[in-house]
Amino acid sequence: MRIDPHSYTDDRHAHVRSLDWEARVDFATRTLDAVATLHLDAPAAGPLDLDTRGLAVDRVTDDRGAAVPFVLHPAEAILGSRLALTLPEGTRAVTVAYRTAADASALQWLDPAQTAGGAQPYLFSQCQAIHARSVVPLQDTPQRRVTFTAKLTVPAALRGLMAAAFDGRDERGDVAVERWHMPQPIAPYLFAFAVGDLASRELGARSRVWAEPAVVDAAAWEFAGVDAMLAAGEALFGPYAWDRFDILVMPPSFPYGGMENPRLTFVTPTLLAGDRSQVRVISHELAHAWSGNLVTNAHAGHFWLNEGWTRYAELRMVEVLEGADTAALVSAICRKDLDETVARFIAEGHGGLTRLRTHLEGVDPDEAFSVVPYDKGELFLRTLEQAVGRARFDVFARSYLDTFRFGAITTEAFLEFTERALPGVLARVDAVRWVDGEGLPDGAPRARSARLDAVAAMGDALPPADARLSTTEWNLWLERLPRPQPTDYCAALDARFGFTSSGNMEVKVAWLRLALASGYDPVLPEVARVLGAVGRMKYLVPLYSALLARPETRALASELFARHAPGYHPIARAVVRGRLDRG
Ligand code: BES
Ligand code: ZN
Repeated sequence: MRIDPHSYTDDRHAHVRSLDWEARVDFATRTLDAVATLHLDAPAAGPLDLDTRGLAVDRVTDDRGAAVPFVLHPAEAILGSRLALTLPEGTRAVTVAYRTAADASALQWLDPAQTAGGAQPYLFSQCQAIHARSVVPLQDTPQRRVTFTAKLTVPAALRGLMAAAFDGRDERGDVAVERWHMPQPIAPYLFAFAVGDLASRELGARSRVWAEPAVVDAAAWEFAGVDAMLAAGEALFGPYAWDRFDILVMPPSFPYGGMENPRLTFVTPTLLAGDRSQVRVISHELAHAWSGNLVTNAHAGHFWLNEGWTRYAELRMVEVLEGADTAALVSAICRKDLDETVARFIAEGHGGLTRLRTHLEGVDPDEAFSVVPYDKGELFLRTLEQAVGRARFDVFARSYLDTFRFGAITTEAFLEFTERALPGVLARVDAVRWVDGEGLPDGAPRARSARLDAVAAMGDALPPADARLSTTEWNLWLERLPRPQPTDYCAALDARFGFTSSGNMEVKVAWLRLALASGYDPVLPEVARVLGAVGRMKYLVPLYSALLARPETRALASELFARHAPGYHPIARAVVRGRLDRG
């Protein structure tokens, strides 16, 4: 039987327990020439189904060198191609020799011009949710964790990095072979690597930051507070289980704000605001070391257990590191986005996506992605916290993480555990309404703080020229401003506060959305520039949506997409194209 709507993994088959992976990175053909040896939990015989997407499989052999018969089935939308092996009696391991496709969905191959240095090419992976299969044939479900060893052959001028423990590098003429191992079992979506012109700076005893040489010093400054974050994370959730917490600053086309790859979090360079105002993304990715990487959603239908817990932890860390007032501002920004997303989903007939427990059979997780699992999930956990008190909730959180450590978790298992640990609380907060109901329950908690009140009190009036707001406050104020605004109001606002040239992308994009919704056309060149310079979906999708929302700028949206799509990550390209197709 299938155990995950997004995987061919069958629970009657052997479990893949570990992986030995060797790949040669070929920038000329944009392919990986690879060999993967999959070790099974016990000697097996008969069928073993693996997930693949776009892989060209040369041969499959068993641990005695005998050929393993296989069928690579035609690709299905979303899932990819089932690689059906028939294992000879007593098979302990299978070795698959294959090449990846030039358009592998997990990989982005960048020309030198798309990097900060401009001289060397760059390659990186992004496997969540279901893209690992385009790089390695695997049981690509969080319910099959693997340990691994890896060997990458890269051009000698470049450096490979992997979300794993580094074992060494040997140069052989114009190539280098780099080795890693991952001793802790990980969900396949956490398999990650990058190759490029990379340098590093030490941040603390357990952390360093990697980036292209041109930005590495800025990155070291921006993320200097990482030790304090680790301390805050450990105080909340217990010892850090992954030895190191390194950070890799990606090229601008990275489609997410951050990705919690174990030992090596990947982040967008838009975090380098020069004022440390975006470091909560690092707190968020660090929190995944517990909620997500240690206790992992069993499949995408339970994604809220990854992201809701992590948003909750992120806000708790912001509270410790930046104060309760800032945490309240961040909550209010998140709440605004959540309310808008819920309203849009319901208006578009996608009310099902406003539940915490979702039914994603036949749905691409990249298309279903939204802030709902993050912020509705966080509000549900906050509701539980308020119902039992913080002290009891913190004990509960620790015991939840201990119980499901290195395991996969469903909403059902979460509810059962919660009922046992905190008897009666689920009924008291009407948990069924939270988990399976659409939209937000009445009385969902709201953050309160003096600074929040002060931002609210500003109303819609043009703020005085000497208004001193933090970037988080500006962000919230701009998000809440009704739209459209008169164009002369927009002009006055920008003249006074220079939002169009803000170094903070959150503020800039909040402003550009307001300006576009108000028909304030002087921002169009900057919108066009941002859409060509940044690939983070959190910015692309709202900006394209704002262009599509007005008849006057619809053609510009298509024109800019046609121009810039080749530089977008395959996932971002598909998501933005979907948005344009819906009109
Ligand atoms: N794990 C996510 C990113 C992700 C989700 C990748 C689903 C692929 C599929 C990561 O932890 C995340 O949530 N990133 C956020 C940042 C955050 C502060 C909310 C982002 O990218 O904006
Ligand atoms: Zn996350």
